[in-house]
Amino acid sequence: MERIGVFDSGMGGLTVLGALRRALPEADFIYLGDTARLPYGTKSGATVTQYALQSARALIAREIGLLVIACNTASAVALPALSDAFAPLPVIGVVEAGAEAGVAATRNRHIAVIATESTVRGGAYIRAIQALDPKIRVSQAACPLFVALAEEGWTEGAVAKATARRYLDPIFTGPAAERPDTLVLGCTHFPVLRRTIQAALGPGITIVDSAETTAARVARSLGRPSRANADDIAGSGTRRPQFLVTDSPARFARVGSGFLGEPIAPEAVELIDL
Ligand code: DGL
Repeated sequence: MERIGVFDSGMGGLTVLGALRRALPEADFIYLGDTARLPYGTKSGATVTQYALQSARALIAREIGLLVIACNTASAVALPALSDAFAPLPVIGVVEAGAEAGVAATRNRHIAVIATESTVRGGAYIRAIQALDPKIRVSQAACPLFVALAEEGWTEGAVAKATARRYLDPIFTGPAAERPDTLVLGCTHFPVLRRTIQAALGPGITIVDSAETTAARVARSLGRPSRANADDIAGSGTRRPQFLVTDSPARFARVGSGFLGEPIAPEAVELIDL
């Protein structure tokens, strides 16, 4: 199988890489985290597109056969530019996959999406969800502090809880029948806060993210059966991924292990310049 390139503005995309490794245990992955320039989510579309093009070029130079944009902001803003620039290389983003997961989960056809400022501002999730079902109502909120909390490892406790309430209460308000019944985590950093977010919302709300559906899309695009439900990659013969970062390999290895769900050896992380 050809090498699969995965990139994100930082470490959040490791949640997608984890799902990809479970779905395609035999695949060879190379992951780029543009850690020097995180966050993308507060930057203009033009800047995010420029950064995404540079990240993609660095991976293409390492001979990939498929590119996954494991960053919602870059997917929302730069997917068409990357697909055009690097055709015929298949380029797969996470927004349509997240929308697919949300549409599959909702019962009352009201979905909430939380994401970065840039993703919310561009409305990519609204378009992707309503392309699947135009009758679905979408409520959005930008939650930039979640990115900092996830990077800091403050995924539980009083600060994370208060932040979740502050962001989520305004969209989960009003009569119960009219509230969203599904929350899409439209940022790759947010899955590590899932427990805190679920506790803030209560058990009646279904939380989905794009990791598993993106992995299934990648498997489909490669014509491979997806082992998306396999929850154990240990001992499956999986090759260790290679990691590239634009700043602080040691911090990436330390903090990134929490996002990936398995240890990252500092010597597996290479510092590069874009
Ligand atoms: N990876 C970004 C995303 O999924 C979040 C972090 C950032 O703002 O760069 O939108």
